Amino acid sequence: MTERVLTGITTTGTPHLGNYVGAIRPAIAASREAGVESFFFLADYHALIKCDDPARIERSRIEIAASWVAAGLDPERVTFYRQSDIPETTELNWLLTCVTAKGQMNRAHAYKATVDASVAAGEDPDANVTMGLYCYPILMAADILLFNAHRVPVGRDQVQHIEMARDVAQRFNHLFGQGRELFVLPQAEIEETVATLPGLDGRKMSKSYDNTVPLFQGGAKALKEAIARIVTDSKLPGEPKDPEGAHLVTIHDAFASAEQRASFHADLLAGLAWGEAKQRVVDLIEAHVGPMREKYEHLMAHPEQIEEILLAGARKARAVATPFLGELRNAVGLRKMVAVAAPAGKAAQATKSAVPVFKQYREADGQFYFKLTSADGGLLLQSQAFADGREAGAWVKRFKQEGVPALAGAPVAVAAGVAQADVEAALSALVAAQE
Ligand code: TRP
Repeated sequence: MTERVLTGITTTGTPHLGNYVGAIRPAIAASREAGVESFFFLADYHALIKCDDPARIERSRIEIAASWVAAGLDPERVTFYRQSDIPETTELNWLLTCVTAKGQMNRAHAYKATVDASVAAGEDPDANVTMGLYCYPILMAADILLFNAHRVPVGRDQVQHIEMARDVAQRFNHLFGQGRELFVLPQAEIEETVATLPGLDGRKMSKSYDNTVPLFQGGAKALKEAIARIVTDSKLPGEPKDPEGAHLVTIHDAFASAEQRASFHADLLAGLAWGEAKQRVVDLIEAHVGPMREKYEHLMAHPEQIEEILLAGARKARAVATPFLGELRNAVGLRKMVAVAAPAGKAAQATKSAVPVFKQYREADGQFYFKLTSADGGLLLQSQAFADGREAGAWVKRFKQEGVPALAGAPVAVAAGVAQADVEAALSALVAAQE
């Protein structure tokens, strides 16, 4: 079975070397494995939660898309799209919102951190909390569940969100699945082997610490300037330097082969000057990133090519999302209008004739059959022939008791011109009428 792997990238910044080593490179490598179907998307609706600067949103979307493609993402192989090109996401977001407990959202770390900061600053706890921030995990659940992703590679700070997506999926399955698992329960995946890249000052490389090394922006010059600013100890040329714990070395090693690592470490121990060591790091990264940068610059100069790639990705994504959302709408009761059962009780009696019906009968060939017809008499389901009438009867009984789940493996055919969704609606109505 192919495993679906899905991840989103919030489009508020410009990719730096830490993003490349920690997220872009491993995700692209994983997408090349056999038996994996990857969905990568620009989480631009999520970006709106954090950013109200349209120019920055616009620019970040282009830069991130160009970076991923330049870094080797193959849009033919993976489904690469913009969240905002998939209207099914916001539609599912609402279906999930209706089954998500407010109490659960109260516990979300990102929201709680904002509240804590406001309270600490003597402000109202609700200050700086938009409904977007509050409901952020639901939108993320919609991203994941819409594609029934099995695995979701994320940073540690996102694990709680994946757990929330599982909870919501479970609740939805329980309420509307009628025994069927409508949603796959996703699993967070933290890449343990990928080291978090340190920044210029040795803390985790992050825009919020202002300690990043650019990936493509500013060309080779900006790369060199950033590496020059990496903090080292003050050992002089000729003095032995400890490669352990020097973050220049960690950055080097993220791009080096085993031999390159060994010789770099040995040379430092033998007294290599930090200045020369930095030049070696620049050369190593440039050899890796330089050819990608050419592609990046080409794409940045031709955003219409990125646009085309993403629109093609959206078409692929929607080929999955549109029919699935149709099933989900049906499951919650947003169905094509057919005669339906009244709620149980006296009213049910009065309108009993408006319910779809199963009929069992025997043909001239001596075989037994059953069929399901809608309230207005149209054929919905037709059974195969049974030699034994009791077997036909057992199936009818099962359908009446179980409804839709009985369809799986049943010896029946949906009548020509009838949608599966209509059959399911009729079966659900039938079950409901008996309750
Ligand atoms: N919230 C994620 C982040 O900030 C981005 C994201 C949005 C995402 N939707 C997703 C990640 C779905 C994985 C799956 O990193």
